[in-house]
Amino acid sequence: MMACTMSQEQQEHWKSGWGFLLAALGSAVGLGNVWRFSYVAGENGGGAFLLVYIAMILAVGVPLLLAEFALGRSTQRESSSAIRAIAPASAWRHLGLLGVLVSSVVLAYYAVIAGWVFKYLSIYLLGSGPDLATPGFATAFDTYVAGSAQPLLWQGLGLLLTIGLIALGVERGIEKLNLLLMPALGVLLLLLAVHSTTLDGFAPGLAFLFQPDWSVLASPKVYLAALGQAFFSIGLGMGVMVTFGSYLMPTQRLPRAALTVVLCDTLFALTAGLVIFPAVFSFGLDPTQGPGLAFVVLPEVFAQMRWGMGVATVFFLLLSMAALTSMVSLLEVPVAFAIQRLGLSRPMASMCIGAGLFLLGVPASLGFGWWSDVLVAGGRNILDAMDFVAVDFLLPLNGLLLTLVLGWVWPRKQALQASEMDRSPYGHLWHLALRFMLPVLLATVLVTSLLQS
Ligand code: PHE
Repeated sequence: MMACTMSQEQQEHWKSGWGFLLAALGSAVGLGNVWRFSYVAGENGGGAFLLVYIAMILAVGVPLLLAEFALGRSTQRESSSAIRAIAPASAWRHLGLLGVLVSSVVLAYYAVIAGWVFKYLSIYLLGSGPDLATPGFATAFDTYVAGSAQPLLWQGLGLLLTIGLIALGVERGIEKLNLLLMPALGVLLLLLAVHSTTLDGFAPGLAFLFQPDWSVLASPKVYLAALGQAFFSIGLGMGVMVTFGSYLMPTQRLPRAALTVVLCDTLFALTAGLVIFPAVFSFGLDPTQGPGLAFVVLPEVFAQMRWGMGVATVFFLLLSMAALTSMVSLLEVPVAFAIQRLGLSRPMASMCIGAGLFLLGVPASLGFGWWSDVLVAGGRNILDAMDFVAVDFLLPLNGLLLTLVLGWVWPRKQALQASEMDRSPYGHLWHLALRFMLPVLLATVLVTSLLQS
């Protein structure tokens, strides 16, 4: 294991292996599983997309996640310092800053969407769900996001809660939160899934999700969508998993942890699909609606469903919890950076960075109202443009550079040891994947997404 430097004695740690696993899973399970997965699968051929997606997570997701965990644990440093530790003398040492940047930008606009989720939860909790029908569900949503004070208020409240949790620290904040919320999240999702089997649309919903439309396999777009979704959903290439790995003790079995997180994340997305599509089909609505699915189509579905207001409340509660656990992990990356590299205290770092990211998210929120005529990056509104630059461009770029460092700069023997793959019959294969397959795949995604834009 690599030697650790001075501040190791101050380095925080998870209290238990469970805490770590649930925190990593809490980071992975988020709006991406419920809101993004269902519409990306909807737009890309249902069951055939699913097969490509599963191939991608096994070929790319598991190996890279394992490498990120291993890098964090063996260096015991936050993500940017971890990369510095394995590439101290070359220009590669600055690469970690890109991950800190990407996670910050993603959090800035993720908090805006999370704010919408919190608002919808409050609507259903207060019993005003039925009022959404009066102006029409689409109009109600459009009018809400076009406002300024309310959306900014909910975005700010969500961030404030995130700041508070991160200020509490790794064990008392992140770990406790996930130990509490992740099992609850599982139970709520199961409840919704059981309810979903009672709907008329259950069979067509299932068919849509699982019946493959093989013709889509001819289009390169599907592979790109699957890889992009895998990166976003597992939360790779942003430094989160490196940072989480750095709070680990040597006793955790890393290959098993990586496999568990990826499989549970996928199971979660699939079950969410089992909740969403049958509901949509039961009421004859369109499943390929895109990002508005959760806020426009589903409220309409809930309004027509027996016990709909209760189901809606559970659904938005689940989505709020999933969003919160992801926001917490996204904020931890820049905060750990500020603590370990800039010497700030944890509460100070959480507050300053959280406030800064709130401000960075303000234009994304106002881009639906006041600044709706500001269109950037090829006619996108500000939030879409931030999502596009971060997820379609910076994320694959950072992923590519990261795999190059992990596969080529990090000595093979150290990598194998740190990941415990030196004891596995697949160790050789894993390192080959890291060296060749991942960079080639990521470079292809990056070039294609650049060409398409
Ligand atoms: N994985 C989260 C989701 O599915 C998003 C996320 C990405 C969270 C990266 C943390 C880090 O919504």
